[in-house]
Amino acid sequence: MTRVIRFNAFDMNCVAHQSPGLWKHPEDQSWRYKDLEYWTELAKLLERGRFDGLFIADVLGTYDVYGASDEAAVRQAAQVPVNDPLLLVSAMALVTEHLGFGVTTGTGFEHPYPFARRISTLDHLTKGRVGWNVVTGYLPAAARNMGQTDQPAHDARYDHADEYLEVLYKLWEGSWEDDAVIRDKARGVFTDPDKVHHIGHDGTHFSVPGIHLSEPSPQRTPVIFQAGASPRGVRFAAENAEAIFTAAPTKAILRENVTTIRRELELAGRDPYAVKIFNLSTVITAATDEEAHAKHAEYLSYGDPEGALTFMSGWMGVDLARYGLDEPVGNVDSNAILSAVAAFQSADPDGREWAVRDIAEWGKIGGIGPRFVGSGARVADALQEWVDETDVDGFNLAYAVTPGSFADFVDHVVPVLTERGAYQPSYAPGTLRNKLLGRGDRLPDEHRGASYRVGGPNSTIIDRPSTLPSSSASVSAQPTRGR
Ligand SMILES: Cc1cc2nc3c(=O)[nH]c(=O)nc-3n(C[C@H](O)[C@H](O)[C@H](O)COP(=O)(O)O)c2cc1C
Repeated sequence: MTRVIRFNAFDMNCVAHQSPGLWKHPEDQSWRYKDLEYWTELAKLLERGRFDGLFIADVLGTYDVYGASDEAAVRQAAQVPVNDPLLLVSAMALVTEHLGFGVTTGTGFEHPYPFARRISTLDHLTKGRVGWNVVTGYLPAAARNMGQTDQPAHDARYDHADEYLEVLYKLWEGSWEDDAVIRDKARGVFTDPDKVHHIGHDGTHFSVPGIHLSEPSPQRTPVIFQAGASPRGVRFAAENAEAIFTAAPTKAILRENVTTIRRELELAGRDPYAVKIFNLSTVITAATDEEAHAKHAEYLSYGDPEGALTFMSGWMGVDLARYGLDEPVGNVDSNAILSAVAAFQSADPDGREWAVRDIAEWGKIGGIGPRFVGSGARVADALQEWVDETDVDGFNLAYAVTPGSFADFVDHVVPVLTERGAYQPSYAPGTLRNKLLGRGDRLPDEHRGASYRVGGPNSTIIDRPSTLPSSSASVSAQPTRGR
């Protein structure tokens, strides 16, 4: 049976997101990232192309690993300047009906309590079309600017994120019952206090005794996206994610990643296909193969190798400026994205080891993911082949130029895949969760988050205190656990 392939568009509130130097291309409009119209036009284009969602990346630091300085990143606009992703969503939701929005926010620096409310607000305003890409961070500069000397160790970041999610699940799933808001004008009761619970969370990193501030939104918990690819990251994803992003440059690596993820899902007691896996990829397409290859060559001529190495150094946590261009990357230790290092350390299909020069060339367009170049039919063939051979569910499409790369995909590839029965012919009804996974608007019962519901095995709700601790003490009330 022909498998329907899923697609997200991948963007960021900055210029030339994964394609350093392409901001110089005359067709690239990423410099308009500060204009709401860029985003609303993009959202309408993606909905015309029946994309599942727009996934908006984010970082809270600079790529200053390369050359141990942020100079190259600033010069090349390597994801800096970068604006906030969440603030874009309401406007795009207003001009679309179905498109989902996957917004990225880190677990390292913001307290989960206000974050829970911001996501609930967006889920209300979008009528349930919000996804959250849970990231634990990889840029040491982010940690330094938040008052830490360095980021915590790789696996410790995931341990911290575990509790972060626990607090969020308790707030989103366990605090307000569905029928808490009654708006009873006769009795003068807007909300029934017996149906709004104090979550009673008292953990290692966070203490959150009270109630969630928002009433239940269409999905309650946003669709959880995650991109862990290290052993600890995959375990975290298997317990929490409903969509998983990979960034495998070759089919062989992707097949291995997908097999590992599906196995870990089973170990976590979940259906191995309960999660959609999307591989980062870039499509460069046109009416004919020749035109597409000419376009690719032209785009590459704008690509910036210094920008590429700036990104790669940040992702790998390795200063590639310290290596010769023809040196292999070797066995480096990383405290950043372990899978990025692993991808380039393993030999490619022809058994060749990657040297720094190859990484710089590869990284000019589309980050770590592969590029598919050709006519609509040629690209469709390749995408279907990758799906068949790797068991991946879909692709997370980065752009070479925006919105041109997305428009080309909608015009040339979508019709071919649709004709072949490999593209959704229309959107499913309901929330993003139902459109993507087809099992309703709320988290399924077997998901970790559901265990924190009232009456669930991990619920910690406490009776409403009859009196709250006094706040009139003259000493300032410093929270013991703020982070
Ligand atoms: C497609 C993709 C997109 C990602 N987007 C972000 C992002 O926007 N912000 C971020 O801090 N990390 C991002 N990451 C990094 C992941 O959140 C995560 O840190 C990384 O994949 C962890 O890898 P590891 O478990 O192999 O160390 C992304 C990763 C992938 C594969």
